[in-house]
Amino acid sequence: MKKLGYVLLAATILAGCNTSEDTSAPASTHAHSHEGERYDNPQHMLQENLGEQALTFPPLLTPTSTDGNQIVYELTAQQGNMTFVDGVETGTYGYNGNFLGPVLRLEQGQEVTIKLTNDLPEPTTFHWHGLEVAGDARDGGPHAVIEPGVTETIQFTVNQQAATLWYHPHPMGYTAKQVYKGLAGLLYIEDATSKSLHLPNDYAINDFPIILQDRTLLDGELVYEEVANTMSTLGDTVMINGVVNPALTAPKEKVRLRILNGSNALTYYLKFENDMPFQLLATDGGFLQEASELTKLTLGAGERVEILVDLTQVEGNTLALLNNDTILMPINITGDAKEIQYDKELTTFEVPDDLVEQAPTKSITMEGMTENFLLNGQSFDPDRIDLRQKQGVTEIWEIENIITDEGAMAHPFHIHGTQFLVISVNGKTPDASMQGYKDTITVQPMDKVRIAVRFPEKGIYMFHCHILEHEDVGMMGQIEVY
Ligand code: C2O
Ligand code: CU
Ligand code: CU
Repeated sequence: MKKLGYVLLAATILAGCNTSEDTSAPASTHAHSHEGERYDNPQHMLQENLGEQALTFPPLLTPTSTDGNQIVYELTAQQGNMTFVDGVETGTYGYNGNFLGPVLRLEQGQEVTIKLTNDLPEPTTFHWHGLEVAGDARDGGPHAVIEPGVTETIQFTVNQQAATLWYHPHPMGYTAKQVYKGLAGLLYIEDATSKSLHLPNDYAINDFPIILQDRTLLDGELVYEEVANTMSTLGDTVMINGVVNPALTAPKEKVRLRILNGSNALTYYLKFENDMPFQLLATDGGFLQEASELTKLTLGAGERVEILVDLTQVEGNTLALLNNDTILMPINITGDAKEIQYDKELTTFEVPDDLVEQAPTKSITMEGMTENFLLNGQSFDPDRIDLRQKQGVTEIWEIENIITDEGAMAHPFHIHGTQFLVISVNGKTPDASMQGYKDTITVQPMDKVRIAVRFPEKGIYMFHCHILEHEDVGMMGQIEVY
């Protein structure tokens, strides 16, 4: 197998535009200037997390049965109640519980059956974000509605490598509200590689799920309708794994954080206190070819990363994970330092050399800043197929975030049913954080990103902006894979 080789493409930087190469800088310093204007995403008033509560972790879902290579799970979307602020109970949604959902663990090659029940008072769908399944009821897009009181069963075989995926609802027009109320959960895939690398993998002991969300609690209550904002619904309160302002307690060793940006809209600009370096292990669709040392990361809505943080390198017993310069999650370090060895060569994958020189066969423009959020100038139409692509054939897509009279903002672009590779950003080799398999990429204003997309299965799939408010108002299209 050959290592992924990128060649520099001729620079196609727009004349007169100052396009930064560094996509991981905080928004405040990442403004792309165009005739003196700035295009930062709305920043929010996310308050410092002082770690008042202990971080808890979603339960691991116990299969209803396992038989050799077959595994059966049951998942119910239901109403619940939570107390986020002392003395105030608020209505929520959750999977098999009050808020968020359990972690489903799957293995490559496994034959999976999942019984899906909708106990909500409204229609929903169960979408498996990042899973390469057929584009029908299995994918759980907006066409796969499950009415209240109904149970449906899906079956698929896991045909992809180890990765941290997630699941959430996708009903047209109501995705943002349902996710905000608590519908989201993690889906882990393991394979022979992930089990042989000696990476930390004891759930919630040295391998921690970290679901980042921001919420605004109105007198302690979670009311989407009262805070909803088409441009971006942003919160002032940090919620991680459904806990308000939590601190993580972790052993003094190398620990693995599987971070999901489960926010409706917020882009996180992550780093550690004192710019402490960490190792990036995996992006949305699986491991990088080798661990990559970084000091900061941009994580748009829907994106995931797995990172390894060496807590033996911290002086003292605390380390803060920051968003820009604000404390997002304090970490309390316990016990005596323990050295752990792991393999830095993580996996191998191939990209045919000719892909990097190939002209795009599909182009998508993203636009919108206030109300009109469009892909290729159009709003979603469930009766229109926007693109077609042959199953198993790799095509180059070019995604461009364009500027209109309204202005522009960063949009996280997501495609269902595929894990793709980023070929270039403005004609240049992408940063390390974009060199692994991805299903969602944050595209900054004026950036042109080329990706190599292949669908292993057939069906009708969505591609859309993962700012859920944008998706709900129609920043979404459909591709038929035949
Ligand atoms: Cu994470 Cu179409 O979704
Ligand atoms: Cu998805
Ligand atoms: Cu958007």
